[in-house]
Amino acid sequence: MTRINTPFTARTTAAEVLAGVDLTGKRILITGGGSGLGQAAADALRQAGAEVVSPARKELDLSDLGSVRAYSEAWTGPVDAVIANAGIMAVPERRLTAQGWELQLGTNFLGHFALLTGLREHLVPGARIAIVSSGIQLRGGVDFDDPHFENRPYDAFAAYAQSKTATVLLAVGIGRHWGTDGITANALAPGYIHTNLQRHLGPDAMRAAGAMDDEGNLVHPDYYKTPEQGAAAEVMLVASPLLAGVTGRYFDDDNQEAEVVTGGPEPAKGVAEWSVDPAAADRLWDLAEATVNKL
Ligand SMILES: NC(=O)c1ccc[n+]([C@@H]2O[C@H](COP(=O)([O-])OP(=O)(O)OC[C@H]3O[C@@H](n4cnc5c(N)ncnc54)[C@H](OP(=O)(O)O)[C@@H]3O)[C@@H](O)[C@H]2O)c1
Repeated sequence: MTRINTPFTARTTAAEVLAGVDLTGKRILITGGGSGLGQAAADALRQAGAEVVSPARKELDLSDLGSVRAYSEAWTGPVDAVIANAGIMAVPERRLTAQGWELQLGTNFLGHFALLTGLREHLVPGARIAIVSSGIQLRGGVDFDDPHFENRPYDAFAAYAQSKTATVLLAVGIGRHWGTDGITANALAPGYIHTNLQRHLGPDAMRAAGAMDDEGNLVHPDYYKTPEQGAAAEVMLVASPLLAGVTGRYFDDDNQEAEVVTGGPEPAKGVAEWSVDPAAADRLWDLAEATVNKL
């Protein structure tokens, strides 16, 4: 399969991706659109004419399948695109969702699985879905023997990495389940951006990530992006005519399709084999569906 190149770079903003694109009449749902990358994507999409629906957490709590079900059951009308953007990172203590899933996996992956499957009947033919992952998916696959850290020590970043691998597998799973209806789903890594996502990181972790200096000031290394740049791939995947019909792919923080690589302890570029493994995507889909159906 030939890798897809785009004319965009790591510095391209969401507004630049949408230059000349008219989204009048398009209805786009974005989760977590009240801050950070989601807000930047929502602004650019609205500027291009789209109707953007962006529920706050009190209307749609992705960590609670009851809330997700109520939200999708109340939905009326067509959906042209969804950006599964909301997320949490490095929750310090092991916490569980109402349904007993580890909180990061339960929010970042399962909540979006439930939302997308709940809205399935409203997705128009050719609907486009963008799922926000992270380069941290290179750190590890989904541990199907112990996804909720019941029998292994909880590690905040291992749990985040697992949840972000799961989001790529969700894009793969959608392609496998809904591809024949012309629905497309792709995953993306936005890069490094200072946002509220880092709320759980203490100064040591921020310094280790190169994001804070010794005096406690935020640092903006060259490879850091603005939220408007971080949102570029989100809007590219749901609205750029250049990506129409593309599905099941993962785009790196340079807005190019990533190479499939063997992951490792040091995150590098690319998408890990375990993040795009069709068997893992099917297994995760079945696990999520069983949980949702129990509700
Ligand atoms: N920033 C980065 O460097 C970076 C790197 C890689 C990947 N990402 C990914 O990019 C996405 C956007 O993150 P961001 O950096 O823009 O961070 P952010 O500003 O913290 O935005 C995350 C959004 O998700 C929402 N959210 C969290 N838990 C939720 C829940 N249970 N139900 C509904 N909404 C919930 C938050 O709502 P509240 O305001 O109510 O908390 C917030 O609006 C995330 O998926 C993140 O993992 C970011």
